[in-house]
This record gives sequence, structure tokens and C-alpha cells, in this order.
Amino acid sequence: MQPAVDLVVFGASGDLARRKILPSLGRLAARDSQAIRVIGAGRSAKATEEFRLLVGEAGGGERLAATADWVHLDYAAPSSFAPLQELVAATPCVIFYLATPPETFSDILLALSASGLARSRDPMRRIVVEKPLGHDLASARALNAQLAEAFDEEQIFRIDHYLAKDTVQNVLALRFSNSLFEPVWNRTLVETILITVAEEEGIGQRAGYYDHTGAVRDIIQNHALQLLALITMEPPTTFDAEYVRRAKRAALRAMLPIDPTMAVRGQYEGYLDEEGVAPDSRRETYVAARLQIENWRWDGVPIFVRTGKALTRRVTEVMIKLRDAPMLRIGGRRQRGIPTLIVIRIQPDEGISLRIGAKRPGTKFELVPAGMRLDYARLTRAALPDAYENVLSEVLAGGHSAFPGAEEIELSWEIVDPLLRAWESEGHPEVYPRGSWGPHAADDLVATGGGGRWIVSGDEPGTS
Ligand code: BG6
Repeated sequence: MQPAVDLVVFGASGDLARRKILPSLGRLAARDSQAIRVIGAGRSAKATEEFRLLVGEAGGGERLAATADWVHLDYAAPSSFAPLQELVAATPCVIFYLATPPETFSDILLALSASGLARSRDPMRRIVVEKPLGHDLASARALNAQLAEAFDEEQIFRIDHYLAKDTVQNVLALRFSNSLFEPVWNRTLVETILITVAEEEGIGQRAGYYDHTGAVRDIIQNHALQLLALITMEPPTTFDAEYVRRAKRAALRAMLPIDPTMAVRGQYEGYLDEEGVAPDSRRETYVAARLQIENWRWDGVPIFVRTGKALTRRVTEVMIKLRDAPMLRIGGRRQRGIPTLIVIRIQPDEGISLRIGAKRPGTKFELVPAGMRLDYARLTRAALPDAYENVLSEVLAGGHSAFPGAEEIELSWEIVDPLLRAWESEGHPEVYPRGSWGPHAADDLVATGGGGRWIVSGDEPGTS
């Protein structure tokens, strides 16, 4: 029986496919009745049986494994795409998923066009591109231009799996479905915004990718800036993808390129001993930077972002600190200020908390920090879906809410490019101990830049 959807995965035997794509697809296929066939397409001559085994072992489930197929082709030879063309010819919807190293993208796109597999203006032919989407602004522009030659924008899905996290999408719900928050969401009442994307793990087996990439390209250019755009953008006209993208574009356009003197780079102790890392690598595994947004809403509000590998613990969080309320005296003494914090916990322990001041129970009038918390997992009986499950389900449905548009990608490169260029000619980054919060210079950056100090909830009483 011909499937309703063919998902052609380039790089199907790679790490990403095994860890994320195939298991998520397996869960989706088990949930929905849609008839999906996975076709692995690659340079190795695999037997179909071998690939079916791989799909099953990766958690793709029996149904997907039983119908999976493998096509052997040469990315640089469009004529070798003919068997693929034949295989999918009668399938209503064909999705090409580039989960290969970026240097192969160009050849694959050319071959898809030349072989007639890519059909622009046909919404039932889609292309999914994995990060990294470029290495800098120039290469990102070139990739976007090549994608646009083969496909229309509505057919293109650029993955930023952070956007597919429920808690990231919930930023829209928090901001624009409650009248409580939006009135304070501006430079009049917000003192600072701190974003932490911390990982406990080192780079593991990914030196081949990471040692050419580093923390700025891996996290800041995409995940962190997308998150910041959702946090700081103006209300979109509707929640539809096009309007949300428009609002994000405007926010990214108002962000100034990062000033290299307002950034700190670090490398974790032992990074140079990781398998595959160049012995004298100056690649950063940590970055902290100050960002500025020049528009009516945010002008003058210091914004800080930090990310790193091998840090104390895994936590992604946005901390919005409001200006202090006027402190009233009692018995002639000034009360200690308790800044209000709005904490958006992306992961783990997904949720939102408000840190407020409350009266300590008892006869005296004394203020203490206290917390109010939404535990996001309690909103559902089921486990929160993996971001890749959301990504794939959106691609299958043809929706774009979880994907950044071409221009957002380029605007984000414009923000980080000056920093990357400046760091190219710098010496070795500061080495920080594994399991720490990174270089001390990042604390000074925040303290002198008007951000107070880095905090993540749990470190402050009343926020967890
Ligand atoms: C990926 C990065 O995009 O995101 C990885 O390439 C990083 O280096 C990962 O570990 C983090 O994703 P998550 O969903 O675990 O926060």
C-alpha cells in the first residue's frame, strides 16, 4: 500500500536520527494513524533489512520498521537520485529531511532540484533543514538563497527545536493570554532580564561538530535569541505563525550586535582532552554576553545571556527582575527590598514562578520572599512531549509555528557575527572548572552592567 507520507531522511543512520528523529517519529506513528514511510537516503550501500533493523532499534516502532526503505545515492550525482524519485512518485506528501553535515546541504539541494524531486509551489513537497543553518551571516545567506531556489518559503522548515518546546511556546500564552503581565513587560518596570541555558554534560562524542562550532553558534545564535525574541517581541496580530514571525523579526532587528567587550568566553577544564578536539583548540564552551534592544519597550534595559557545557547543572531559565517597589518605613526603619522576579523555567521542572514579598506570619510586620508557582507538568496527565515530536508533528501538518523564518536566521547572525569575528583573533579562553557556573568574569559582566547577579531559581529563597 502506498503511504500517505514519505519522510526521506538524509543522514538517517547518524546520531541525530537515532537519538531524536526516529524515536519521536515512532511515538508519533503510534499515536496518529497516519501512514508514514521512512526512507533513509545516504552514501552507504545498506540493505533495506539492515535499515529496518536500525529503525526498530532506535525506537521507531514495529510499524515504521516494517515499511522502512533505504536508497543508496551519491549527493553530488543528481542521476543517482532516480531510484528515490521512482519510490516516492505516487506518494501524496514527500518530506525531505536534511540531517547531514552542513557541507552536504548544497549538493543535496542541487540534486533534489535537478532530479525533479523538489517541486516549488507544491505544498506537499517539503524540506526540513537541521542546524547549523550557516556558520556566519554570509553562509546563512547563501543557504537561504539556495533553499529559495528549490522551494517556496512555505515548503521550508528550519529546525530550532527550542521553539518546539512546550514551555517556550508557553511564553506566548503567558504574555498574551493574561492581562496581568503585559502592562509590566517594558523598560518602565523591568530592571533586567537574565537568560541561562546551562548544561551539565560536556561535548561527549560530538567534537567533530562542536570544535568547529562553539557555544555562540551552537546555542546563542539560535535557541537563546529565539527565546529572547519571544520574550521581548511586541504582541503579534494573531498567534498564527506568520504574525509571530513578523513580531520576532522586529524584535531581532532592534537588538544591537553584541559588543565583544561586553562578552565573556570560557572553556571547560579537560575540553582539550576530549576525543577529537584539536590539541590547541581555542573553541569556547561557555559564553556570557550583554544584549541591548533599542526600541521603545526595552531601551536601556540590560539583558544578559549565558550558556555553557559542563556547568553545575542542566537548567534553562529566563529570569525577569522587576524594579523595586518603594520601601515603606516601619517604626522609623526602612524595610529590606524584595525584588519581584518572574521566572520562566524552560527545563527541567518546567514551570513559571513569581517571587514576591509577603508578610512573615506572626505578630511583627516583617517582609519575607515568597513564591507562587505553576508546575507545567501538572497541566497534563501525559508526559510532556519531546521537542522533536512537536517538530515532526508540525512538519507533517504543514504548520510553521515552531520554525524560524529565513530572515530571523540572518538577523540572528548579524547579532553574533561581530563577537565571533573578534574572538577569532583572541588567545585561549578562560578555563573554568567542570561543574562550576563558568568564568568569574561573567559575574563581573552582570554586576557592572546593571544586572545584579546571575540567579537561577532554587538558588534564591522562595522561587522554587
Ligand atoms: C542542540 C545543541 O541544538 O541543543 C546541543 O547542538 C545541545 O549542543 C542541545 O546540547 C540542547 O538541547 P536540549 O533540548 O537538551 O536543551
